Amino acid sequence: MTARAQLILANRAFLDHEAPRWADSPSTASSGGLLAAVRPVIAPWDGHAGTTWIGVGMGRFDREWVDARGYEILETPRGPLRHRRLFFGSATWQGHYGEVANSFTWPLFHLVRVDLPRATPYYPEPQPPSAAGWQSFVLVNRAFAEAACEEDGAQSCWVHDYQLALVPAMLRERGFRGPIGFFLHIPFPALAVIRPYLSGEVRERLAEIVRGMLGADLAGFQTPGDVERFAEAACELAGARPAAGGLEVDGRLVRVGAYPVGIDPEEVLAAARRAKPVTRVRAARELGLPVVVGLERGDFTKGIPERLRAIAEAYRQGRRFAYIGIASPTREGVEVYGALEAAIEREAARAREAAYWVGCPFTQVRAAVGWDDVVALQRDADVVFTSSLADGMNLVPLQAAVAQSLRPAAERAVVLAGVDAGVTKVYGGDGRDGLRAVDPLDQGSLLEGLTEGLEGRPARISDRFIAQVRERDARSWGERFLDDLEGTC
Ligand code: F6P
Repeated sequence: MTARAQLILANRAFLDHEAPRWADSPSTASSGGLLAAVRPVIAPWDGHAGTTWIGVGMGRFDREWVDARGYEILETPRGPLRHRRLFFGSATWQGHYGEVANSFTWPLFHLVRVDLPRATPYYPEPQPPSAAGWQSFVLVNRAFAEAACEEDGAQSCWVHDYQLALVPAMLRERGFRGPIGFFLHIPFPALAVIRPYLSGEVRERLAEIVRGMLGADLAGFQTPGDVERFAEAACELAGARPAAGGLEVDGRLVRVGAYPVGIDPEEVLAAARRAKPVTRVRAARELGLPVVVGLERGDFTKGIPERLRAIAEAYRQGRRFAYIGIASPTREGVEVYGALEAAIEREAARAREAAYWVGCPFTQVRAAVGWDDVVALQRDADVVFTSSLADGMNLVPLQAAVAQSLRPAAERAVVLAGVDAGVTKVYGGDGRDGLRAVDPLDQGSLLEGLTEGLEGRPARISDRFIAQVRERDARSWGERFLDDLEGTC
């Protein structure tokens, strides 16, 4: 990618400083799908051009590392990155992140096909934000927009994800000179599904979010379905009109399109080559058992309780396999996550008991696992079992495909993915290339996917699937988006 003076605005910083400056411990790379997709996109900073990343200072020791305005130059595998952190007080952060972003927008935006709070006992209803919470959200978004406008000579600004949805319109109001891009990493909801939650004030909040996104010159989404749903909402809530190439709003064309995110295959391959098998996999192999792996952030969108129920049933039917489930802690302290923990524990206890009766090892833990162990599990699994109720993309199947490329084709895994995850929309889920769609709300579908997967059916990960994942990688995603963004000028 050619070096472009380009701003990236993301709620998360590129990395968090969790150790003081004098210590030798490395700073912690931020994790999550957004970071994985955007990290390979940065252009090295040469003192004049390259990427400037603006994110929130969340690390305990961040302030020690930055100058008075929050700037520092970070050394990254892609070269130097000019980086600025914005700092907020805890009440503002709670309103912005805890309330609006993750108790309202996040649960609302995953309602693409099914009213999930009605369909499961633990998925929270989107919480209408309080006036103070909304003010905090506006304040944080405004701080980002102002910081971007302070960047003299920035040629373009790429705003990421739902936490910063108001920023594109704020940039436009402030006269930001370059093209403004916005990318939504999570799904966009269906109006028909979320209507029960759109009472007067909530509808207005959603309308503000949509209007914020419409401030962009180019609004990108993961799948064509997200584009369609956004267009419908933009017309109903924000007075937009369909136009060639996008939407017309206030006499302006907002281009909209699908840009499915990818991964950095070389990063996965390097880890897959060096990582040792984890102990539990070695133990399963000694028992001659196939290994089923479930790996994700412990989020209520991931369908973890549903999957555990299917695992339990498979054991009850006498299937023999080792299950290793790891849900990494996420958004701790955000109240709407409370019911999920209990649901996971309940289903895990049942699955553990069922596993015991057939003499199979079963693990479901809540833990943050290092990158090498994650990739080792993806490489060594016989079934990679994801089951998102809805998901922007879900990078686990993509990472697993690349990690498994080190194995002979006949020994590779079958990957299961939720029917409403971007990955099945983009890569297809008929199973022919080793990626099979399952409906997490249908126990029969989960069980069939698992039992066939254990037999390598319908097919194991194919060379074609691996080649597609490599081709549609994070860098080509970024290039495509930025080329189209430049094209809007
Ligand atoms: O997994 C990716 C993602 O869901 C992004 O869409 C989002 O911006 C990010 O995680 C947010 O996670 P966190 O709450 O950990 O900052």
